[in-house]
Amino acid sequence: MIILAIETSCDETAIALVEAKGGLKNLRFKILKNLVASQIKIHQPYGGVVPNLAKREHLKNLPILLQRIKNKELRIKEKIKSTIQKKSSILNSIDLIAVTIGPGLEPALWTGINFAKELYQELRIKNKKLRIIGTNHLDGHLYSFLLQQKTINLKFKIQNLKFPAIALLVSGGHTILIKIESFVKYKKLGETRDDAVGEAFDKVARLLSLAYPGGPEIEKLAKKGDPNAINFPRPMINQKNYDFSFSGLKTAVLYYLRDYNIRTFGAIRTADVQKLKADIAASFQKAAFDVLIAKTLRAVKEYNAKSIFVSGGVAANISLKKYLQLRIKNEKLKIHLFIPSKKLCTDNAAMIAAAGHINYLKKKSRRLIAQGNLTI
Ligand code: KG4
Ligand code: ZN
Repeated sequence: MIILAIETSCDETAIALVEAKGGLKNLRFKILKNLVASQIKIHQPYGGVVPNLAKREHLKNLPILLQRIKNKELRIKEKIKSTIQKKSSILNSIDLIAVTIGPGLEPALWTGINFAKELYQELRIKNKKLRIIGTNHLDGHLYSFLLQQKTINLKFKIQNLKFPAIALLVSGGHTILIKIESFVKYKKLGETRDDAVGEAFDKVARLLSLAYPGGPEIEKLAKKGDPNAINFPRPMINQKNYDFSFSGLKTAVLYYLRDYNIRTFGAIRTADVQKLKADIAASFQKAAFDVLIAKTLRAVKEYNAKSIFVSGGVAANISLKKYLQLRIKNEKLKIHLFIPSKKLCTDNAAMIAAAGHINYLKKKSRRLIAQGNLTI
């Protein structure tokens, strides 16, 4: 199967071309092209994503990205010479178009859906086998680890993948813990009751006058700080459920800054400000990750899980991976940890191709309409 995927749920316009092999028991993917046009610079002055600007940029970027796929046709075909006829164009060799239908910003989602539908109508004239599938963005994050394997000679089998698994999905809009029995059976264990963890990173970054998006900025600053300098709260860490809450942690940072200013009468030296900010970033990050890790590992033990999948923009944070690996080692847990590479953690279309393919195999189709509040 050759899958063309389109993702426009938020502030990244993305198109990917992915080759898929195998059935639900031995899935294999190979990324042929994974293009992302980032809008970060455009939204940065506003400190967050502006939906109508996102829509305008998606409309502009989608045809450009598709053209880039056509321009690289020869090189892409080299990678899949075993499966498609050399003479036919790459777009006429596509078996499936997968497009994100939600969750996300509805004006942004519609640009991708309409673009996908038009492309489908156009390509269908020559390519009768073509199908189109609406895809849940969260399924994309969930399955993104499947794309991380080395793809040598198409022998890209996923090593050590065993079920049951616990998946931690941590992005700008979601913080969800999921129990996965197999690719066809999974269940949400819990989720955030207020802010998503990525959202908390973005809000704390704003308190520290850092740029949007805040996650990578906090991660960078935290490297210079002491994670044990400030004892921020770990909300809900001891509660016997799998839900999360991050808005109180953000407020604790706000109060800490306010109290600090009162104590020092606002007269603080520049060098001390830098040290203070770095300590806050490191301590906040540690508090947030302690909660995520505690709940994930409790679920692992309760359900005797054999694998952990971590995905979403926050999974791009190397400290999260390091803290998690350390806890797994210290607790001598026999578990395999799957975290995709940075580019596959943040929004991209390759993950939409993987999820689209899995849903196609599961015969799970969704209507091609934007669903801003779609859940897992
Ligand atoms: O998955 P994603 O790209 O988009 C959504 O579906 O939301 O996630 C974006 C979120 C933002 O809140 C961003 O600040 C956060 O992921 N993020 C990070 C890092 N990189 C992105 N958070 C912590 N550390 C990072 N390195
Ligand atoms: Zn996302």
